[in-house]
Amino acid sequence: MKILLFGSGAREHALYDAILKSPLVKKEDIYFAQTGVFANGNIIDFEDYYNLAKKAHELGIELLIVGPEAPLVDGICDIFLSFGIKTIGANKYWAQLESSKSFAKEFMSKFDIKTAEYFVLDDYLQVDNILSKFEKPPVIKADGLAQGKGVYLPKTFDEARQIAKEFLEGKFGKSSKKIILEKRLYGRELSVFSFWDGKTLLSFPPACDFKKLLDDDMGDNTGGMGSAFPCVLSDFEEKEVDGYLLKLEKALKDSKANFCGVIYSGLMMCNDGLYVLEYNMRFGDPEIQSVLNNFSGDILDVFFKMVGGKLDEVEFKFSDEPSYCVVLASEGYPVSPKKGCEIFNLDIAEKLSVSVLFAGVKKIREKYYTDGGRVLSLVKSGKNALRDIYKAAQEIKFDGKIYRKDIKLR
Ligand code: AMP
Ligand code: GLY
Repeated sequence: MKILLFGSGAREHALYDAILKSPLVKKEDIYFAQTGVFANGNIIDFEDYYNLAKKAHELGIELLIVGPEAPLVDGICDIFLSFGIKTIGANKYWAQLESSKSFAKEFMSKFDIKTAEYFVLDDYLQVDNILSKFEKPPVIKADGLAQGKGVYLPKTFDEARQIAKEFLEGKFGKSSKKIILEKRLYGRELSVFSFWDGKTLLSFPPACDFKKLLDDDMGDNTGGMGSAFPCVLSDFEEKEVDGYLLKLEKALKDSKANFCGVIYSGLMMCNDGLYVLEYNMRFGDPEIQSVLNNFSGDILDVFFKMVGGKLDEVEFKFSDEPSYCVVLASEGYPVSPKKGCEIFNLDIAEKLSVSVLFAGVKKIREKYYTDGGRVLSLVKSGKNALRDIYKAAQEIKFDGKIYRKDIKLR
């Protein structure tokens, strides 16, 4: 059995480490595309997804696992399926749940899934009319993908008007020619990863993502500076999550959603219940790093069951101890991170049994250098996990290193 893992971040490194634990595949039968420094060998270079699928087919690869959203949106799974290769990832149609916020909102409205009240806008002349419908400045979102930067929470109506203008004038190219204005909600956020095989929806318990750059949830929004798993939930919150997941399963069934992949529900727990903020059609990074570290099943077996339409036979199990991920990022992230700085003392992590997952890292002649905003994910489960992660975070050195000091269960 040969498989292909697509993607270059710490999320894909975590997936790779989890797959390596499976007896269903040999290390030499794992192939990589558009990958990171964690891949040793078996890297397939390609010109486009058709070319990649052709090469994968010639190599006898039977399963594609897609990490990031962009290839899903561009239809990588549709192309691989046309070559008879099974895929873990949404097809182009269902990837719209992530790539078009208006598509996602329509899906939620149709199936009575609770989400913030919203308006879609593609003409600046309508902005005052729509703003007048809100009591407080609304959240402004680019309809399309914007690398996690397409959501603004303006403090005033004037600011909202200005942002709407910049978006509609093409701040994010085509992605912001259409925008969503939605009611601002207040509450804590949860990330829930669900698996869907066309018939059954099976979900991991919620994980917490620390999205803001600085401690105490201050500073810019980022892709995520850390995560903890599982979230601490009250009985009410647990019921809300369960109720929502039943609705989501019914919505997918009723829509005959014909894909095999992951749905990530970005949720907000508000006083009056649980709201969906967004859908992603992939695992969240860095949440999946802490979730997988705690997962005691065989993730590859789950994927094979999914493509065989047997997700209903799977039961997820986790170790009792909580798990954490702390991201070491580069100064300047998320706007313009410093790159090219040598990374020292990586070996300290092994001594502390902390896993180091590579993201924005380059390897040149056995030395590691920073090469992106989020550089490393440090992951560990158990009682002393946070102490050890933070010891490693302190000892691992590179110029401009930043990280949050307040990652914990919440
Ligand atoms: P999204 O990409 O839609 O998940 O938005 C990114 C982040 O913006 C979320 O994780 C929230 O922190 C924040 N956000 C999005 N929508 C809302 C909302 N309606 N009210 C408050 N915060 C929001
Ligand atoms: N951690 C949020 C994301 O992956 O988009």
